[in-house]
Amino acid sequence: MRVRLLGTAAGGGVPQWNCACAACDRARKAGTTRTQDCVAVSGDRRTWYLLNASPDLRAQLAATPELAPGPGPRETPVRGVLLCTAELDHTLGLLALREAETITVYGTAAVLDALSGPFPVRGVLGAYTSLAWTPVAVDEPFELAGGLTVTAVPVGAKRPRYAAGAPSTGDWVVAYRISDRRTGGVLVYAPCLPALGGPFLAAVTGARAVVVDGTFLYDDEMARATGAGRTATEMGHLPVSASLRDLTRFGARVLYTHLNNTNPLGAATAAERETLAAYGAEVAEDGQALTL
Ligand code: MLT
Ligand code: MN
Ligand code: ZN
Repeated sequence: MRVRLLGTAAGGGVPQWNCACAACDRARKAGTTRTQDCVAVSGDRRTWYLLNASPDLRAQLAATPELAPGPGPRETPVRGVLLCTAELDHTLGLLALREAETITVYGTAAVLDALSGPFPVRGVLGAYTSLAWTPVAVDEPFELAGGLTVTAVPVGAKRPRYAAGAPSTGDWVVAYRISDRRTGGVLVYAPCLPALGGPFLAAVTGARAVVVDGTFLYDDEMARATGAGRTATEMGHLPVSASLRDLTRFGARVLYTHLNNTNPLGAATAAERETLAAYGAEVAEDGQALTL
């Protein structure tokens, strides 16, 4: 399996357009960017699936040679999108795929309902392209083209803010466990992880790589950076400081992604990266590739 990390920032990216915090200011001056969370995976390097659809998707696709169209004039290797959440930073990019002849979108019932109701992407996109809207049941493996098998792992029930009126029950947040039927390589992708629950830890068992929630390093990071704000845990993101020890016990490569602009780990020279390195964990970077 080939994995390409297209974007590794939380919603807003780095620098965030309206943020003058130290990290955004540094990135702006250096001309560096971390784009919003999105991953591409392929079992055969010919057919690719996107994990989430970032608001930066157009630029991410253009920057990734494997995802270039051809040989037919409108032929694309991108076969579908698997959604972990219905959050805007994971779904706005769907609108950027409207030129596709057809697009298959996988998500749980809660996520697909949100995209038909409070954020009516389905109806809007349906006027532009032919959509195959494919519900995913947690814990039930299904196959993708190119030799991949996927299982959605339930990890949380946090609704997007725009869906506050939707039912609070349901699989609002899932991780994906993706295995390559040929190589046996397993990727676990969990950019939004509120806690290390049993189903998640079971999914990590036997994985070669875990690309996981690195939104915040510390639980009180928002307050530290901005003087106000909820804790990481209240926002549905287990901080790196609380997951590092447990996640690095499984023998899998651990890469932290979906970094918020307040996260000191975002800077390549951050002293905080030494603690990660001591546990053998890494900060995911835009454009990084893995072979599993
Ligand atoms: C999240 O990851 O918790 C959401 O994307 C937050 C948001 O953008 O509202
Ligand atoms: Mn997010
Ligand atoms: Zn900032």
